[in-house]
Amino acid sequence: MILQAEDIHKNFGDLKVLRGVSLQIKERETVAIMGKSGEGKSTLLHIFGTLDPPSDGVLRICGKAVAKHRIAYLRNRHIGFIFQSYHLLEDFTVLDNVLMPLKIGRQENVESKEFAHSLLKEVGLEGKANVLAKYLSGGEKQRVAIARALCNKPDLLLADEPTGNLDQSYSHDIQKLLLDSAKKHGKALILVTHDEEFARSCDRLLFLNEGQLYNPSA
Ligand SMILES: Nc1ncnc2c1ncn2[C@@H]1O[C@H](COP(=O)(O)OP(=O)(O)OP(=O)(O)O)[C@@H](O)[C@H]1O
Ligand SMILES: [Mg+2]
Repeated sequence: MILQAEDIHKNFGDLKVLRGVSLQIKERETVAIMGKSGEGKSTLLHIFGTLDPPSDGVLRICGKAVAKHRIAYLRNRHIGFIFQSYHLLEDFTVLDNVLMPLKIGRQENVESKEFAHSLLKEVGLEGKANVLAKYLSGGEKQRVAIARALCNKPDLLLADEPTGNLDQSYSHDIQKLLLDSAKKHGKALILVTHDEEFARSCDRLLFLNEGQLYNPSA
């Protein structure tokens, strides 16, 4: 199992956003999560990405319980995150942004640089490798964020509205890239999207409603 979440709760003060979410995800499995704005989809993805602790519940990534002392290592080695708001380092180049997870994990080498360039090509940004992130358009930033998430070949790819700022043709290419790389490299993908067609191309589609996940076909 790549991800095992048991009875995850998350409160922000009195606001009970997640109220008992359980989910298991195997290798190569792609899961889409849909739900109304403000239901807690980003909150759930942040918890799965070990970026925010749950108020209650148990989370395992690649069989390992998420404990404070190894969060950074788990995240760096196993998880790729595509944020709703990109979170690029604006004063670094596109290439350095893509390589950042490997730089942090001290795994950068000649092959990883080549891989980063090939990812930039796949997202249509091969000509922008040396441009500072702050000069990119919103859609370009989103594509850099996607390349960065794939660069450390994560076991678990978490994508929060990864095509929210792309035009239709790019959106289609990026959808294919995410789904293909999940299948090809044996990754699991959790995708949050408002695009129903994209969501339906995943193995499973779940809805987050009132703090719980539902399978609409069950
Ligand atoms: N750090 C925080 N402190 C307080 N409240 C928060 C915090 N983060 C999120 N919330 C609240 O939790 C709820 C869920 O937010 P979240 O961003 O997870 O929604 P979402 O489902 O991703 O929505 P959208 O589709 O608009 O992106 C919202 O009401 C939000 O205001
Ligand atoms: Mg969100």
